[in-house]
Amino acid sequence: MTASPLSQVLKGRLLTFSDRPRSVDDTESYAYWAHGALAIQGGKIVWRGDAAKLPQVYQTWQVMDHRDHLILPGFIDTHTHFPQMGVIGSYGAQLLDWLETYTYKQEARFEDTLYCQTVANAFLDELINNGVTTAAVYATSHPGSAHALFEAAHARDMRMIAGKVLMDRGAPDAVCDTPQRAYDESKYLIDAWHNEGRLSYAITPRFAITSSPAQLELMQALAAENTGCYVQTHLSENQFEIDETLRLYPAAKDYTGVYEDYGLLGPRSLLGHCIHLSDRELGALKNSDSIAVFCPSSNLFLGSGLFDYSGMIEADIRVGFGTDVGAGTSYSMLATAADAYKICQLKGYSLNPFESYFGLTLGNARALSLEGKIGTLEVGTEADLCVLNSHATSAMRTRMESVNSLAEELFVLQTLGDDRSIAETYVGGRARKTSAI
Ligand code: GUN
Ligand code: ZN
Repeated sequence: MTASPLSQVLKGRLLTFSDRPRSVDDTESYAYWAHGALAIQGGKIVWRGDAAKLPQVYQTWQVMDHRDHLILPGFIDTHTHFPQMGVIGSYGAQLLDWLETYTYKQEARFEDTLYCQTVANAFLDELINNGVTTAAVYATSHPGSAHALFEAAHARDMRMIAGKVLMDRGAPDAVCDTPQRAYDESKYLIDAWHNEGRLSYAITPRFAITSSPAQLELMQALAAENTGCYVQTHLSENQFEIDETLRLYPAAKDYTGVYEDYGLLGPRSLLGHCIHLSDRELGALKNSDSIAVFCPSSNLFLGSGLFDYSGMIEADIRVGFGTDVGAGTSYSMLATAADAYKICQLKGYSLNPFESYFGLTLGNARALSLEGKIGTLEVGTEADLCVLNSHATSAMRTRMESVNSLAEELFVLQTLGDDRSIAETYVGGRARKTSAI
């Protein structure tokens, strides 16, 4: 892989968002340059606009011309599990059976350091293949798994959020820790990796079923001691999961109440799924400024239910989009947007293409409180980018013959596109997908 020069100009069609598009006609919410240029220095964007107006000072820099391709901020995935690469597409089960039959067995393999390193590297390669430059990632309960992911992300200078999974019951011993080990190992990883380069730590209790009250109590202390860290967990994905949670936490008002009781909600709390929530629970998410993460391909695959995206937006609850690999069936955020569209259709809402690309970029940056760092093409932000080719396959070329607008093109890209539509991925200004430069 060839490193890109530190100072360079990229040319192509630029698209960046400033707010959530309310419709395809909401031209105020995005900026588009049909013949754009982006100047990058030291990993940051220093200029962007119409190529014809590129200031003299950048005109001597090396140029990479992406021509008709679209240059967008790198995609962001707000919920994924790197150790589940080996279980994607495992047949015939809903959540709790799927975890027992396939997932815990696979995660047990992460006791082996070499295996952790191999899969962590394969996972980050897959993200880059798919134009994903930042993700919020679950490791396994083995501290070495989180360590391997951080090490591999650091070597690529990727902005990554991750944490060791915390689970002390309800699963095989090979994937369980104890409350004290969960605390000590998380603390060790926070000290080693949180705010190291572009990395952040996420305190990661798997879900209420696999954490005892004693473990959640210690996680509450850990989160209070490390307020800059994220918290990520699963919430209200499946009815059997909800019933089991309420059996294990009989004093809680409801499932959300469990996390509330242990101080785990807040503006840096990423709650995967949030499908079957009551009005009280939605109110608790809103009041705590927590983030509901929509994982459409996973929800369809496990038959978990239909996330109420438009209801969440109307209730002013922060929303992120995630793949949830490996219950999720694709690493591609384009495929994720395609499945989100279908779920929204079943809920009576047509997610417009500008809104979905906003969601994959600035929307997800906001969900991670990273606006101003990533998610746009604004000057001063980090040059994490993806370059999209809407003619990548013969099916796309045929379909593109009848496309007449940018909105239609974006929609074709999300409906028919996959990793083949990602012509390049830039991480901190460096081309990482191809060695074309
Ligand atoms: N709930 C608890 N663990 C998991 C997991 O690994 N994947 C999904 N989709 N839901 C979970
Ligand atoms: Zn998940």
